This record gives sequence, structure tokens and C-alpha cells, in this order.
Amino acid sequence: MNLFDVYPLFDVNIVKGKGCKVWDDKGQEYLDLYGGHAVISIGHSHPHYIQKVTEQLQKIGFYSNSVINKLQVQLADRLGRISGYDDYQLFLINSGAEANENALKLASFTNGRTRVLSAEKAFHGRTSLAVEVTNNPKIIAPINANGHVTYLPLNDLPAWENELKKGDVCAVILECIQGVGGIKLATKEFAQGLQKLCKQHGTILICDEIQCGYGRSGKFFAHQWLDIRPDIITVAKGIANGFPMGAVLISPEFKPVYGQLGTTFGGNHLACAAALAVLDVFETENLVENAREVGDYLIEKLKELQKTQTHIQDVRGRGLMIGIDLDIPHKDVRVPLIHQEHCFTGCAGTNILRLLPPLCLTKADADEFIERFQKVL
Ligand SMILES: Cc1ncc(COP(=O)(O)O)c(C=O)c1O
Repeated sequence: MNLFDVYPLFDVNIVKGKGCKVWDDKGQEYLDLYGGHAVISIGHSHPHYIQKVTEQLQKIGFYSNSVINKLQVQLADRLGRISGYDDYQLFLINSGAEANENALKLASFTNGRTRVLSAEKAFHGRTSLAVEVTNNPKIIAPINANGHVTYLPLNDLPAWENELKKGDVCAVILECIQGVGGIKLATKEFAQGLQKLCKQHGTILICDEIQCGYGRSGKFFAHQWLDIRPDIITVAKGIANGFPMGAVLISPEFKPVYGQLGTTFGGNHLACAAALAVLDVFETENLVENAREVGDYLIEKLKELQKTQTHIQDVRGRGLMIGIDLDIPHKDVRVPLIHQEHCFTGCAGTNILRLLPPLCLTKADADEFIERFQKVL
């Protein structure tokens, strides 16, 4: 059997990782400024993570959601405390798309409406509702194009108000820092205005923190830079450092109804052990603060580089979520970065380089990246 060939691949076979480094099958070391697409939060193969996941596997890896799983309760408690959302409720699933799917379902169950507002260039996943709120016609299959969604320009509050005041909008879904869209930041004025309008018109505000959340922006959630408090928050990617897991944080105003949401694998013992180990390391290694400090440092260094490197048009981001606009296709930089300089980066659009390293990146790693980046420009 062949693999279903939907991914254009780099010709590199990664077999080992440690911290912010990965190695290929020939023993070549690479600096990882991509984190396996923003998934590696505490660093590759962290010893505490390995220990906790191994210990859990030796006890039990999985049992169904029809019995008590105290690890889920522990995770809800820890996550509530560390994120500042103690009073919220937690629903656990297996991916980012599933988190958004459940968030949108819950919104619609709650207010009975079916319209959703989403931002231009938004990316929210590939399952039916998640892909419908994603602003990319190329990945929306005809079966998913069900007319629920209006896409509006990010930060254009009057455009959103025009739709919200019709009184029929179920939910607004927003990435406070767009990832796939090219590291575009929502403004405080926009986010606060949107929150107010949502409350006024009975619309549920969902913040998709799957890429920009969980410490990456230098606060636990990116929306916390904007002083808003969404009704629902979705997370995935870094929450279990590569173990497939997603979660929905739900305001106390939502009352749970038996059977309304459900999943076989979501919140299984192994996933919870991985997620708890991640939070342990977040606390012991101050990774949110590290993301802010090293992120600021890297952004400053990149802005300095911009003064001498004409290919760099703009540098923006928060914490360790950084976009670099180039005046050349990103592949002209990304490919030599991998093959000559042995450094992984992400991308967006045709000419944006996206940096999403593990949150344990050091200033020395950042310097190393700058040196290698300079060589390929
Ligand atoms: C902001 C955002 N939302 C949702 C998703 C979908 O997550 P998953 O691929 O785990 O379904 C992604 C993935 O890149 C994302 O960046």
C-alpha cells in the first residue's frame, strides 16, 4: 500500500529530538524553529515528559469515558489555575479541528443559531465546521460549503458590527494571532469591541488558541494581551507536546447536558499524563516567561537584521510566534535553511517565514538562528 500523497515533503527523515534540536537518520543535527508545526512546547523528548508518559503507560494507557478518570480532573484543576480560568469547564478531545468543531456545536446548541463570523485568512482546521470557518476555498469540499459563515476583515470592527446587529449570529471565532494567515495580530480595540458586541447581540465569542495559545505568545493565552475573556477557548498542538490532544475551555454560563458532546479517545489516561507533564515543565522551567523574553530578543535581532537585509520587509509577532515578510518566495530561504544551514522554519502564504520554536528556545539558539538565516538571505 502507498501513502495517500497529500503532503509535499522535504527529503529529510527525522529520527531523534532533544530540546530545540532534531537529528536525521544520517546523524545530521538541525535547529528547530518550527516545533513540528507549533506542537513541541516543552522541547523534544523532555526527560520529565518521557518519565511521566512511560509511568502512565505501565499502569494503564486508555479506558473509556464511561468511568471516572481522575487524571482529567487533575488536568482541569491545573489548567484552570495556570491559565487564569479556574471557573471554566474542560472538555477533552484529540485535535484542534475537533476542539473547534465542539466549540461551534456547543455555541449552536446553546443559542439555537447557525450563522458564524470568521476572519479573512482564518484557519481553524479541516473537519466539517472547522473547515467551513476556515477562509480557504481550496480546502472546503462541496459537502462542507453549507453557507453558515461570513468572513470579515480582521480588525475592521464596523464590518463585524454590521453583521452582529442582525441578531442571528451564533458565534464569532477568532485567532488573536493568525497562524496560517501569516502572523496577523488582532488589535486590542477590535477584540474588546467585538467582545462587547457579542455580549450585546447574544453571540458566543470563541477564541481559537490552538496555535497562538498555551504560552507561545508570552502570556498563557494570546487573547490575554488584549484584555478580553472569551466564552469558549480552544487549544491543541502544544498541550501534550506531540501526544494528539485538544481541549475546549467553557465558561461557567454553559450548562453541560449529558450526551450532547462525546468522544471515544478524548482525555484518555495517556493523553492526560502527557498534558500534566507539560504543565509541570511549564511551571518548573517558566516557559511562558521564557517565550516572552526570548521572543522579544529574537524579534529585536530580526528587526536589526532587517536594516541590512533588503529581502526582509517586515518582522512581527508576539513571544515565540513570529512572522517575517520577505520580498522573495519563502521557499528560496526555507529550503537552503534546511539543507545548507540545517535549520527548520515554518511558512505562510507565498513569502512569509513563520517561526514557531519550542518554548524552551534560548537566546543562544536565537543567535544561532540569526547567523544561519543571514547566510541564506
Ligand atoms: C489556529 C488553528 N486552529 C486549528 C487548527 C487545526 O488543528 P489540528 O490540525 O490539530 O486539527 C490549527 C492547525 O494548524 C490551527 O493553527
